[in-house]
Amino acid sequence: MAQRQSAGWQKRGRAIRHLITGVAGFIGSQLADALLAAGDEVAGVDDFYLGTPRHIACARSHGGFRFARADISDPGGAIAAFRSLSEAAGPPDILWHLAANSDIAAGAQDPSIDFIRTLGTTYAALQAAAAIGARAVAFASSSAVYGERDQVLTEDSGYHSEANLAAPGPPRLMYAPDAVHPLPQRGEGNEFV
Ligand SMILES: NC(=O)c1ccc[n+]([C@@H]2O[C@H](COP(=O)([O-])OP(=O)(O)OC[C@H]3O[C@@H](n4cnc5c(N)ncnc54)[C@H](O)[C@@H]3O)[C@@H](O)[C@H]2O)c1
Repeated sequence: MAQRQSAGWQKRGRAIRHLITGVAGFIGSQLADALLAAGDEVAGVDDFYLGTPRHIACARSHGGFRFARADISDPGGAIAAFRSLSEAAGPPDILWHLAANSDIAAGAQDPSIDFIRTLGTTYAALQAAAAIGARAVAFASSSAVYGERDQVLTEDSGYHSEANLAAPGPPRLMYAPDAVHPLPQRGEGNEFV
């Protein structure tokens, strides 16, 4: 909490509003529960491709949680879902984009799954974040961006040229304090964590 306050996220007079894609997944559901427990408001979207309603049962019992079941692989679907979730409460202070294909074996067998569910959702989420006026975007990358290494990884280990397209971003959660576009580049001191 202290870290979030020092990062400037605490709004005067109202709870921080979060929107989480992939909220019924492993990380999204845990994040939702933690933010709700901290007193924030959380809206979430998921199409239950890999996540399950069971993961958001706890969040759904909370008054500060709203949910939309929707496929956000394309901008139209993402904008509609984000708009419906933002109608009553207003645009989110931060969009956490965690919707993706985490089934690596399925993606290796059929690359269209990664293309649609990881790259497609990321493009759509950014378009929708801009459309609804989200103030910041954070997303989870993967250690896959480092490629296969023999050495122990450190904070300043560079990316690997063989890194999978399914994990195109820097290996940190990031946020853009003033605009959705452009996202800050690594090394500009904008890391959220
Ligand atoms: N779990 C880990 O250890 C780990 C490690 C490194 C990176 N990550 C990254 O974190 C992110 C989340 O991982 P996770 O473990 O929570 O995965 P997860 O599969 O549990 O959650 C992803 C969620 O996205 C949803 N989803 C997928 N496509 C969608 C679509 N088109 N529309 C709406 N919802 C959709 C799925 O139904 C699922 O609930 C991924 O980008 C993953 O690569 C996870």
